[in-house]
Amino acid sequence: MICYKPILFSAVQPSGQLTLGNYIGTMRHWSAMQNNYECLFCIADLHALTIQENKNNLKESILDTLSFYLACGVDPNKSIIFIQSHVYQHSQLNWILNCFSQFSELFRMTQFKIKRNIKKNSIKNTNAALFNYPILMAADILLYQTNVVPVGRDQKQHVELTRNIANRFNSLYGNVFTLPEPLITQYGSKIMSLLEPNKKMSKSDVNKNNVIFLLDDISTVALKIKNAFTDSEKPSKIYYDKVKKPGISNLLEILSAITDKNIDVLLKELEGIMYSEFKKIIVDCLSKFLSKLQKSYQNYRHDESYLKKIAYEGALQSQIKSKKTLQNIHDKLGLISLV
Ligand code: AMP
Ligand code: TRP
Repeated sequence: MICYKPILFSAVQPSGQLTLGNYIGTMRHWSAMQNNYECLFCIADLHALTIQENKNNLKESILDTLSFYLACGVDPNKSIIFIQSHVYQHSQLNWILNCFSQFSELFRMTQFKIKRNIKKNSIKNTNAALFNYPILMAADILLYQTNVVPVGRDQKQHVELTRNIANRFNSLYGNVFTLPEPLITQYGSKIMSLLEPNKKMSKSDVNKNNVIFLLDDISTVALKIKNAFTDSEKPSKIYYDKVKKPGISNLLEILSAITDKNIDVLLKELEGIMYSEFKKIIVDCLSKFLSKLQKSYQNYRHDESYLKKIAYEGALQSQIKSKKTLQNIHDKLGLISLV
């Protein structure tokens, strides 16, 4: 009997250096998930075009991101790894889904509002792709009849929108699309900034001390953690409370993800120690984790012909799958096929 595994799709934009938030929120889960799901891991280079600052080093960022996928344990023999722009079906489904999306629902997207504010852009100089961004994401997901989408909490709304678009299409044309579920963990799905633990740690933060980049050297990491915001509770006590202790809770989530220990276990081990000690333990664990990851990353990154071979083979495999879905959609819509 053939036993089909559920389909998993995830992606990261190659828009600058990857952060510890990206790793903890999504990439750390990928390696283990390969055993239980049929996985597709995409490098969302078309999404990265929405941010104009990327244009000078996009090529580098794409290969950097691919190397990190491999360093995080994504295995091309188990999963499909590909670059979004290599599979034209994404752009084509994007257009079709535009015809089934509403302006008002896109206008509600929190990420769009945040990105517009960060850029202090008025609607006049906000590019249309930034607005349509979640529709391309819906196309990515729906092309493969995806069941689950592991993402950080900031992307939950986009997966919900994807479900709405799919539902709308299905109600007109039958069961064409599988409805995807977001896969979001209780802890680690929104790693916060080190100095401002009420906002998300983000690649594009102008204050680099807010962010741990996966390629930061160890002395930089030590300094960033040392300066991370905690609180002035006296006597100082380590416990998890996102409202009263956002800084400490964020550091606990980071430590828990890196050590793979749950927060209750950690709290017992950390009982009675000072914040400075706590931070030393985090630096220690992060150093070990990052040096191993960076070493593996460098090995892959130096071999561009291998990276391109992986991307080429991944593109061929995803094209086969996505053509099938797209052909079905064309038939349903009444488009005439070439052959
Ligand atoms: P992006 O950097 O926006 O391309 O995000 C890639 C993936 O990382 C998405 O699934 C995000 O939800 C996730 N992610 C980004 N930043 C964080 C963060 N600070 N905490 C947890 N997940 C994150
Ligand atoms: N929009 C996601 C982000 O900014 C990246 C992404 C693009 C994605 N397509 C996707 C994530 C499909 C999950 C599934 O983080």
